[in-house]
Parts: sequence; C-alpha cells; structure tokens
Amino acid sequence: MSTPNPANLSNMQARDMAALLHPFTNLVTLRQTGPLVLERGKGVFVYDTNGRDYLEAMGGLWCTALGWGEEELVEVAAEQMRKLPFAHVFGGKSHGPGIELAEKLKEMAPFPVGKVFFANSGSEANDSQIKFMWYAANARGQKGRKKIIARNKAYHGVTLASASLTGLDNFHRSFDLPFDFTIRTDCAHYYRGAQPGESEEQYSARLAQNLEGLILREGPDTIAAMFVEAVMGAGGAMVPPKGYFEAITPVLDKYGIFLVDDEVICGFGRTGNAFGCQTYNYQPDSMSIAKALSSAYLPISAVLLSPELVEIIEEEAVRIGGLWHAFTYSAHPVSAAVAVKTLEIYERRDTFCHVRKVAAHFQARLKALEAHPLVGEANGVGLIGGIEMVADKKTKRNFEAAKGVAARCGAFCQEEGIIVRALPSDRVALCPPLVITEAEIDELFARFTRGLDRTLDWAKREGTFS
Ligand SMILES: Cc1ncc(COP(=O)(O)O)c(C=O)c1O
Repeated sequence: MSTPNPANLSNMQARDMAALLHPFTNLVTLRQTGPLVLERGKGVFVYDTNGRDYLEAMGGLWCTALGWGEEELVEVAAEQMRKLPFAHVFGGKSHGPGIELAEKLKEMAPFPVGKVFFANSGSEANDSQIKFMWYAANARGQKGRKKIIARNKAYHGVTLASASLTGLDNFHRSFDLPFDFTIRTDCAHYYRGAQPGESEEQYSARLAQNLEGLILREGPDTIAAMFVEAVMGAGGAMVPPKGYFEAITPVLDKYGIFLVDDEVICGFGRTGNAFGCQTYNYQPDSMSIAKALSSAYLPISAVLLSPELVEIIEEEAVRIGGLWHAFTYSAHPVSAAVAVKTLEIYERRDTFCHVRKVAAHFQARLKALEAHPLVGEANGVGLIGGIEMVADKKTKRNFEAAKGVAARCGAFCQEEGIIVRALPSDRVALCPPLVITEAEIDELFARFTRGLDRTLDWAKREGTFS
C-alpha cells in the first residue's frame, strides 16, 4: 500500500490518519489523499477546515433531513441536558421525552401500532426486529419459524444479525457472515433485472412468483419474516418497479410471514410521504426507523410493532419473567427530546409537502441526466436519486469493477464542491436534506454534472468507455 507524503497533509488530516479507523473507506485511496475534514455546516452546505463549501447532496448519510444549523434542535437538546441528561427505561422506569415520542410515533404511523421500542441505530433496530420475530415465533409455538427473507443488494445494517440480512458481499467478506438464518430473494431493479420486453408489472409478478417458489422450497413454516426497504438505499438507490409491493405482500400473507419495513432511509418524508410504505402502498407488521427521526442531530432509532406482535411479545415476557432485550440508551431522553422537536418541526413547516413540491424539479433534473453519455439510468422518487454509469449505454455494459468508477465520480464531485455517495455497480446516490430549495437543486445538478463530465473524460482516457 502507498503511504501519504506527510508534507501534503494538513495537521488535522495527519492526526486523523494516525488515530481513526475509517469505515466504508477505500484505505488505499485514503492513504494517498487524506480525509476531508469538515468543520461546520449551514443549511444544505458543509464547510471544510479551509472554509471551502460542499453541497451535501447525501444529507450526511441519508439522514440530516433538516440540514445543518437548526437552532431549535440545539436548544431543545441543551434544555433537556440541563433538566435530565440521562434516564433509562429499564426496571419499570420512564421519562417525559420517551413517552411523548412513543405517543407521537403511534399517532404518525401508517399502520396500526401497539407499542414502540427504542434503540440507537438502524442496525440495532433491525437486530431487535429479528429477535422480536424469533421471540414471537417461539411464543406462538412455531419454533421452526426462524428464517428471514432479505433481498439481494438489501442494506439493513452491520451488526451481526442485520449484516446477515444485508445482501452485499462487502459486508460479509472476512467477517464470517452471513448467518444461515437469512434466505435471499431477488433485488427489485427493473433497469438491470427485467427481461427484454417485460413490463414493470410483469417483472414484479415474476419476482413475486420467485418469492413464492423460495418460500415453498424452504418450507413456509420455517420462515418468520421478510425485510424490505421501500427504496433500496445503500445497495444502489433503486426504486421498486410498478406493482412490486402489491405483488409480493399477498404472497407473504398467504404463508403467514411477517413483513418488516425498514424505513431507516425512507421514513419521514424522503419519498414525498411520511413513510415509504405510503408511497408504495403496502402495510407492514412492524417498522424500523432511525436517521431522519432526529434529523440525525443525535442517535436514536425505533421499532414500531403491530398490536398483534406486541400482544404476543408481552404475553411471552410475562410467561418468562420479562422482556430481556434493551440498550442502556434505549429512549435516551436527550435524543428523544430532539426527535420530538424534529417531528414537531416537520409538521409545523409542512416539510413533507415541501418535499413533494421540490421533488418534481429534482426528479426532472435527475431524469435529464440520462442524456449524459455516461449515464445508463437516472431514476428516483421524492428526494432520492440513483444514477448508474455504464461503459456502453446500448448494451448496458458495466465498467470493470476494479476501475471503481463510482468512487472516482464521487472524488471528482467532491473536487467540484458536492458530496455524493458511491454505491456498488457503478451507481451514485443523491439524497439531499429535505429543506433544499429549487435554486439549490439547480446548484446541486450543476456541480454534479461537472463531476460526471470529469468522470467521463477520465473513463475515456482510461480507455474503458465505448
Ligand atoms: C435501510 C437501512 N437500514 C439500516 C441501516 C443501518 O443504520 P445504522 O447505520 O444507523 O446502523 C441503514 C443505514 O444506512 C439503512 O440505510
């Protein structure tokens, strides 16, 4: 591996590289370039230690929904810190912010919710979901129902169980994962997965048939649940084909398999409605939320459970003397207070309506990228965009994986003052803060197009583009 020339690194970069283990990072590149060290943010922009601005077109990690510098969240956190900086919900204890947030989430939920369980991250929420599914299966005397269906290219987190559901090799390699409770079904991506001449609806019907085939092969009474993201995020920012959820949910119902909706990215306005399942018209049995729940100002996540699941789980907890699952920071009062305020701001400012308004412009600008020589697909919903770069548009031929085209594009974009996210299969995601204006959307696409143009020039120079 190459080592950086310390003379080219700032003091902060050098200190970072000596002390911080960077996740989700190409360490070879990092050793050459050093990290981008950020110092502050305002609105949809963040600024590095040299004062240079970047349009944060990923809302951090799909999460900083209200953008940077939201003083109301700062104030409420400070107030709660002074009043009751910590209290837990173990052993029958509780506190105001936790209660208020649980009530608010029950009220907002797009499906009947019995109770809310709190955690700190999307991964913890999804691990909790898996444990609750197993717990419920045992409680119902269906001890054989332990398998969980997840899709290829799904992203559900990185803890041992949630990483097992994640359908991307990078998250398994050298970690001895996935665990064998996971069974895989198709990724739902029309651009890549459809057969020639197949309509979106036909493609969806075929995936539902494949799902039923999988369930029958594995045995319906060995399967507890299926996890879905409304829009598949980290696997490629891919929207579902038309009729997808309408096709798969009856299959799950037929075999008594719970539907777990991972709304860690889509929850709270991202797709133009409060939840992705409303945009795509399906009803889950339980839901994981995180990220925009607190606009990412503090870590907090939650599991929303149907009344049926709560009843089963509580009866089992009574039988065995307690629900022995929680985290020290479950319903952390400061995080909960920030989340309550975040939800209040969404409502007061009609943030989800704002998303619907600006999404039309965002999606039109996104779609127009398909005219770019490098872009095979540019598709999305609400304020999510997924762009796939191809070596040949006619044949949809991908670049060689080793070329790292998406990462290269991300680096050029960063030099052009925009932060995007490189994903597998030469895809790049856009997911700006929900507060973005139309003028800022234009600025986003101007900067992004410059990054794409530079990627194209590079690909031509490399001789990888035809
Ligand atoms: C859909 C989805 N689920 C779960 C997670 C994991 O969340 P966390 O990184 O907070 O553990 C993510 C993270 O991006 C996600 O996109």
